[in-house]
Amino acid sequence: MRIVTRGAELRALSRRARQSGMSVGFVPTMGSLHEGHRSLIRRAREEHHRIAVSVFVNPLQFGPKEDFSRYPRDEVNDVRLCRDAGCDWLFLPRARSLYSPWFTTTVDPGPLGQVWEGAARPGHFRGVATIVLKLLNLVEPDTVYVGQKDFQQARVLQAMAHDLDLTARVVMCPTVRERDGLALSSRNVYLSPEERIRAAGMIRAMREGKALARSGIRSARAILARVRKVLLREAQPDDIDYLALVDGTNLDPLPRLDAGGGYLIGAIRIGTTRLIDNLHLLPPARRKKGA
Ligand code: PAJ
Repeated sequence: MRIVTRGAELRALSRRARQSGMSVGFVPTMGSLHEGHRSLIRRAREEHHRIAVSVFVNPLQFGPKEDFSRYPRDEVNDVRLCRDAGCDWLFLPRARSLYSPWFTTTVDPGPLGQVWEGAARPGHFRGVATIVLKLLNLVEPDTVYVGQKDFQQARVLQAMAHDLDLTARVVMCPTVRERDGLALSSRNVYLSPEERIRAAGMIRAMREGKALARSGIRSARAILARVRKVLLREAQPDDIDYLALVDGTNLDPLPRLDAGGGYLIGAIRIGTTRLIDNLHLLPPARRKKGA
């Protein structure tokens, strides 16, 4: 595995590989890598000849009152995990090299970036879209792998790729969870032991919603009422930022589940830690006539 700090060097490596007929997969991250990140690298490894991973805590996607300065960093572990997972090029850029003092141009993801997480974190998805576009222009990959864990982020990036005619495909991979269901996240280290137990109540509540949908309940109001009730009991959140059933493409609220299903999305606060999660809900499969 090669550690690369300069964008021009990464681009040269990628171009050389593609000129000799190899395909390139790319996994952008902010480091503090865990099994969720590893699953993305593994998937990329299965599907491409060369794999690039970037580790960069992107200041542009953090609000002024957010955790940029205390965001967990662990470069030693990141290098080890990337090497084990089969990464070829680990990109560790310095902030100065990606954002010059004259930096001015950003990518606005539009309404998709203004709802839900975007409403709670103004400017967040502009920061995400901007850094990912910059990274895509350096790596020039065939495919970029992102996690369903950050469902809205995945949709923003898919929309950007489509709207701006990017050549890279954006592939969304399943959420990797702890044994009790809590989605792995670099931010889980902020949870105290007591909060960590409550945190797992979020996915238990969302799974109740999934079970209701599977049993044939289609009304969003009924599903959300049940999820909220279990959430309050099991996670005792200090705040529920949002809990919604949305269309998987445009993230508009869905009044009812139709045959294509929908996404149950939620953001809560436990202590000072904000947790997000989501599940794909499907109604029961329609039985064939006579069956
Ligand atoms: P980060 O939070 O480090 O996540 C990097 C990628 O890993 C994202 O695509 C995220 O959805 C995915 N991921 C995180 N936890 C996961 C889990 N439990 N299971 C599966 N995938 C998981 O998301 C970012 O960084 C940044 O916003 C970034 C896209 C790198 C832009 O700065």
